[in-house]
Amino acid sequence: MEVEASYSGFLQFLYTSVSFIVLTFISLYLLRSKLWCNCEICNTYLTSSWSLKFHNLCDWYAHLLRESPNKTIHIHVLRNTITANPENVEYMLKTNFDNYPKGKPFSAILGDFLGQGIFNVDGHPWRFQRKMASLELDKHSVRSYAFEIVNHETENRLIPLLSSVSRTKDVLDLQDVFKRFSFDSICKFSFGLDPMCLDLSRPLSEFAVSFDLASRLSAERAMTASPLVWKIKRMLNLGSEKQLKESIDMIDVLAREVIVTKRLMGFSSQKDLLSRFMRSIDDETYLRDIVISFLLAGRDTVASALTSFFWLMATHRVVESAILAEAVKVLGPNEGLRSFEQMQELHYLQAAIFESMRLYPPVQFDSKFCDRDDVLPDGTFVKKGTRVTYHPYAMGRIQEIWGPDCMEFKPERWLKDGVFFTENPFKYPVFQPGLRVCLGKEMALMELKVVILSLLRHFNIQTATQFNVPQFSPGLTATFRGGLPVRVKERKTPFSS
Ligand code: HEM
Repeated sequence: MEVEASYSGFLQFLYTSVSFIVLTFISLYLLRSKLWCNCEICNTYLTSSWSLKFHNLCDWYAHLLRESPNKTIHIHVLRNTITANPENVEYMLKTNFDNYPKGKPFSAILGDFLGQGIFNVDGHPWRFQRKMASLELDKHSVRSYAFEIVNHETENRLIPLLSSVSRTKDVLDLQDVFKRFSFDSICKFSFGLDPMCLDLSRPLSEFAVSFDLASRLSAERAMTASPLVWKIKRMLNLGSEKQLKESIDMIDVLAREVIVTKRLMGFSSQKDLLSRFMRSIDDETYLRDIVISFLLAGRDTVASALTSFFWLMATHRVVESAILAEAVKVLGPNEGLRSFEQMQELHYLQAAIFESMRLYPPVQFDSKFCDRDDVLPDGTFVKKGTRVTYHPYAMGRIQEIWGPDCMEFKPERWLKDGVFFTENPFKYPVFQPGLRVCLGKEMALMELKVVILSLLRHFNIQTATQFNVPQFSPGLTATFRGGLPVRVKERKTPFSS
């Protein structure tokens, strides 16, 4: 009895102490992050009253940035400086790159899922992986391998799937199809593994389900009012944190299985990224981390770019016809794409893709953390520890950057005498220009071109939605809330416009 009483007394003491520590932490956090700020912008943010006038948070930010004389704003309660000023973007991503790392808050959020993978580290581990990965991705053989995978997946899965839907006349969620397509492609490229997600008759592989859950729940961590919330839930293994742990455990088991099988079967002549890395790295956890980062970076971004492209196509038939006409001229009336190099000749298609991502960038905003007090080129003072965000979505909607027709979808703005030309990348930071530019840019453009051309040449795709402006779900990559429902009709003569 006495033992029980002292035990319950001890529990009481423990509970009170933990509560005290937690409350102290929360109070300190609230004090530090100025959660009570009463300025108009913070008020609008805290009460979500921006949603009375705007469909999406990014549209409200775009409005604020357009109105700001130096195209930079500060949200006090988030300790976040947001900029749409190309000079600031160049400064943080190139000129003073070392002062704007991803930082600890970001790597803590994605750390359990991505470990020490390239996407989630700074300094030496980042430099090492970047060098190794660039050497591989720049090889002609790797590009041809990626082209083969994407072409095969398109010809043998995507087109047959849409053909069968066109016969049943069902409504299809194109966004979901693109997510499955890009997951199959990036898994084959990175692991040499085929999860067969595009085969709708099969249940989604455990790997795909776990990967989806882990990326969603990791992104949700970033949305909690304070990191303390998810950290405490993780410590106590509760709710979404419990689910996250289970999905990461599953990914770990499957990734290790792939590595062990590759070791047994020999990896010296295999073409996938993992086998290439295995030739110079032994550590299994490190190998797992590197490849998982590629999967995350290359999966939803491509699906997102394809979704908004096809949404725009449904209302810009003139652009669709111009893409088809160019394809007939460059490839011939009945021929598909034959090589990575041949794509360079499709200038109008490239212009349409760049224009679509100008208005609908797959990564709408991207943040770094300021390491030492600094002043941005537009005069904004940035205190150490401040989150600094550049905002490609807003930048695509600013007249001073793109002219008075900035809200219009006009591929022609990327063409000079019919030839595609690149703009200042800091005006268009869709692939994060500067020292940490996206490593999969060329692969992504290839994937987009193959899919867009094949689908437009085989099918007439009509959206089955009522919305005029897409609404996005919160997350790391732009995703249409409710997907992109479409009806598909096979063209009578393949490749006709
Ligand atoms: C349209 C498609 C894509 C877009 C818009 C895009 C955009 C981006 C952006 C904005 C970043 C910077 C993220 C950050 O540091 O916070 C990034 C990084 C990265 N991307 Fe992409 N990406 C795309 C496709 C791909 C693909 C297909 C791959 C893989 C083959 C890939 C591999 C990477 C990697 C490895 C990084 C990290 C680079 C580093 O930290 O040094 N991306 N990408």
